[in-house]
Amino acid sequence: MTANLLILLVVVLLALLCAWLTVAAVRNRKLWVKIAGGVGAGLLTLILAAIAFFGGNGLRMTYSPGAAPAPDLKVAATPAQIARGDYLVNLSCIGCHSPVGPDGRPTEQHPLSGGWNIAVAEGFGFVGDMVAENLTPGGKLASYSDGELFRVLRNSIDQQGDRLAFMAFLPYNQLSNEDLEAIIAYLRSLPPAPTPGPTGDRLSFLGAVMFGAGMFGPPSAPAPAVVAAPPAGVTAEYGKYVATYAECRGCHGPDAAGSPATSVSPAVPNPRPLVGTLSQEQFFTMMRTGVKPNGVAFPETMPWKIASRLTDDDLAALYRYLTAPVN
Ligand code: HEC
Ligand code: HEC
Repeated sequence: MTANLLILLVVVLLALLCAWLTVAAVRNRKLWVKIAGGVGAGLLTLILAAIAFFGGNGLRMTYSPGAAPAPDLKVAATPAQIARGDYLVNLSCIGCHSPVGPDGRPTEQHPLSGGWNIAVAEGFGFVGDMVAENLTPGGKLASYSDGELFRVLRNSIDQQGDRLAFMAFLPYNQLSNEDLEAIIAYLRSLPPAPTPGPTGDRLSFLGAVMFGAGMFGPPSAPAPAVVAAPPAGVTAEYGKYVATYAECRGCHGPDAAGSPATSVSPAVPNPRPLVGTLSQEQFFTMMRTGVKPNGVAFPETMPWKIASRLTDDDLAALYRYLTAPVN
């Protein structure tokens, strides 16, 4: 953060210098200096001012996000909670928080020791490093209270009160209080594993400027303190909830109807036109074998192996959701 604040200060000073040069040029008696100097220095002033404004905004949103205090919470960690957490974490978190394999991607295997730099791996390292955390008690979460861990998942705010650059784009703020507590219970039950290297965010100034200018899309709205899940069952409504913890909505957009390309991620297609032509049985086969009915396999970018761990009921609910009208 200190380096970013220094850069911000330099940009502000340069903007002031250019503003002063603009005024000096306009006051100059020679006409060509008035025009060329005034326009050139004036433009530069505007550009630098915009960079300073957006960079300052991005830094404010990151380091002073107006975080709610962590709730006062002690998770009971019953066997039922741990079992539910096991299911959820192995559907979602493991896709990013597992160790990095030889291909540079998370292995989707235990231990959940973190270390994957998603920003660099996915080609947007220019915004800084975003390294997935060690989720076992062998890492920094050992010093987090249950309430602080709850706030990470509900509000994407870390222990210091800073905003988590990447987690904030995942839809975990829509998971119920019960499910978040189950996740916490399960993570606490894991055997401790050492952290492989530095983890967490190191936002670059360019990242702060892009973030402050809204180039990564709008930040998620403040989450309520209490979120309830819809009643579990084979319904489109519950299927939408399944699509939240099974990550479909994280990639395929909030309505699982496709998401456009942004400055840091490629477009993800709308799965509904294809799923709409399939029977539930064909959908199950596709999701569990990774092969579409036309014989084409899902590419690496579609994490079907994780999705194949969904229970039959959850997959059936997902089918209802993806074949229901978008609401
Ligand atoms: C798509 C990738 C991805 C998924 C999926 C994901 N995370 Fe993360 N997580 C990250 C990254 C990257 C960071 C580093 C901080 C940042 O940039 O948000 C992180 C950081 C964290 C942290 C550290 C917070 C802190 O205070 O520093 C916790 C705790 C965490 N994640 C928990 C989870 C849990 C629990 C799940 C599943 C419910 C999950 N994450 C799913 C990518 C992911
Ligand atoms: C990490 C991001 C990611 C997640 C999570 C994800 N998908 Fe995908 N999915 C993709 C990408 C990328 C493609 C397109 C691959 C390609 O180029 O064909 C895709 C393709 C698909 C397709 C094929 C669309 C077509 O017309 O060919 C379906 C169906 C689908 N996903 C359903 C799902 C469901 C259901 C879930 C949740 C269980 C899910 N996806 C989770 C990224 C993701």
